Amino acid sequence: MMKVVGVIGGGAAGLCAARHILASPGLCPVVWEKAQQVGGTWVYTPQTGTDQHGLPIHSSMYENLKTNLPKELMGFPDYPFPTDEEDSFIHHTKVLKYLERYAEHFNLKPHIKFGHNVELVKPSVNDSKTSWEVTVVDLATQTSITTVCDAVIVCNGHYSVPRIPEVKDIEKYKGKQIHSHDYREPSPYKDARVVVLGASASGLDISLELAAVAKEVILSHNLPIKISSALPPNVRQVRGVVAAKEDGFIFADGSSAQADVIMYCTGYDYTFPFLAQECGIKVENNIVQPLYKHIVNTTHPTMGFIGIPFQVCPFLLFDFQVQYFVKYLSGDMTLPSKKEMDHAVVTEMGEHSSKGIALRHYHRLEQQQWLYNDDLASLAGLPYLPPVVGHLHNALRVIRKNHLMTYKTSCFKITGPESFEKSGSILRGSTERHCDSGVDSGVAERHSDTPTFPEITWHSRQTLPQITF
Ligand SMILES: Cc1cc2nc3c(=O)[nH]c(=O)nc-3n(C[C@H](O)[C@H](O)[C@H](O)COP(=O)(O)OP(=O)(O)OC[C@H]3O[C@@H](n4cnc5c(N)ncnc54)[C@H](O)[C@@H]3O)c2cc1C
Ligand SMILES: NC(=O)c1ccc[n+]([C@@H]2O[C@H](COP(=O)([O-])OP(=O)(O)OC[C@H]3O[C@@H](n4cnc5c(N)ncnc54)[C@H](OP(=O)(O)O)[C@@H]3O)[C@@H](O)[C@H]2O)c1
Repeated sequence: MMKVVGVIGGGAAGLCAARHILASPGLCPVVWEKAQQVGGTWVYTPQTGTDQHGLPIHSSMYENLKTNLPKELMGFPDYPFPTDEEDSFIHHTKVLKYLERYAEHFNLKPHIKFGHNVELVKPSVNDSKTSWEVTVVDLATQTSITTVCDAVIVCNGHYSVPRIPEVKDIEKYKGKQIHSHDYREPSPYKDARVVVLGASASGLDISLELAAVAKEVILSHNLPIKISSALPPNVRQVRGVVAAKEDGFIFADGSSAQADVIMYCTGYDYTFPFLAQECGIKVENNIVQPLYKHIVNTTHPTMGFIGIPFQVCPFLLFDFQVQYFVKYLSGDMTLPSKKEMDHAVVTEMGEHSSKGIALRHYHRLEQQQWLYNDDLASLAGLPYLPPVVGHLHNALRVIRKNHLMTYKTSCFKITGPESFEKSGSILRGSTERHCDSGVDSGVAERHSDTPTFPEITWHSRQTLPQITF
């Protein structure tokens, strides 16, 4: 009998899940998507706040955003971005178009219930077999429907619910406060003095947009390092905010500045408001647990999560995560016992801490993503990514670090399993990949007092074939 796999969300992760479930005999997907279209994050809307159904706006996309990864590193391994487009760093509308084409190519839309908001997911255990009751509201009719599934894949995205830090005396501040989730375009900030708090992808990219119109952008961050790239003349870096005043902010380096606006680019919270307590999932200190391999709910292993790791090449990683989990659901692969999986999670967290990395960065894989993808590939018997992917990513990190203002004008072309071209010159990477600093966004230089991390030598990968692009 067919096993029904419920998929929550029709963004890139949910589409990828549906695509591989459909390809697996014996499994059949039901995807619930609260929006009327696929794409999730990539569905831009100028609206902020709530939508016509009173639900919070999901996407944090802004009008002029171009990708911060080249499209050559963004596509799913079995469905690359079209190569007729020369630019590597593309406008967000092109990513949405790509995801729509992906959905059409794999005939996913008949399996997606659009305008359906998942409200409750509850396990039901009978004779030691877990099934899942998924209660969904049809937003057009406000009717509630419960479907029983054999497995559930959670793909609800994690860049929607703003994380806003507590700032001492913030109630005294008379200026405007906004989170990057609600940022759409720079014109409202003309001639303003803006404190941008946080210097990861949003903080940096939005600072550059604001600098074109604002009087001054004060980039405030607590990275152990300074952004080393040239920045526009009206952008200056200070340490993190320690307190607010009526007309501005005090920073950890003792300086202070007047500001008309504070733009919180302080990231997002993982939230799963539809998971009943019996699911056994909790989020603490930015860690979703207990998840084996950042995917499997160890309490009820027929529940998987796609897309929890961050600072990765998302679509590539989703594809490995989905294929790994689907292999398990289809019975082609077994998982260790709950005890062994929980032990593996605790061990991994211990190793993470022993490297001096904050536990809130446990899901931040960065350079570890290649080992992680290979691990999933080897366990599930999947082809590995070709070395060029890591090589290109390493080159990108260097270019981004040194040329923050202009890196998005670079063009890359993959020319073979080990080589790529950038602006005409062929670059070859080393055959070893190294664990690098673990520093945010890859654009900053390490201070001498920052701990260094041990190098990891890339595993030999002789046994399985590579994906060809
Ligand atoms: C501003 C910004 C820029 C980015 N730029 C890049 C980039 O350049 N390159 C890159 O590779 N990645 C980028 N990312 C990361 C991006 O989020 C991922 O690439 C990817 O799109 C995430 O896909 P997802 O499916 O996990 O989540 P989402 O795209 O967020 O999709 C989740 C889906 O689940 C639906 N959903 C949520 N809750 C429910 C519910 N209860 N019921 C029904 N449906 C629900 C949502 O409506 C949504 O459609 C960016 C992210 C942001 C925020
Ligand atoms: N295509 C693009 O150009 C583009 C643009 C924007 C965003 N994005 C994507 O969107 C996703 C989210 O990125 P994001 O930058 O919004 O979130 P993020 O990567 O989670 O970064 C948030 C940053 O804010 C810092 N922070 C949190 N609280 C702080 C505080 N009180 N004081 C100072 N700093 C604080 C965090 O530091 P800690 O980590 O130390 O807590 C972190 O560096 C990523 O996938 C990113 O690639 C892409």
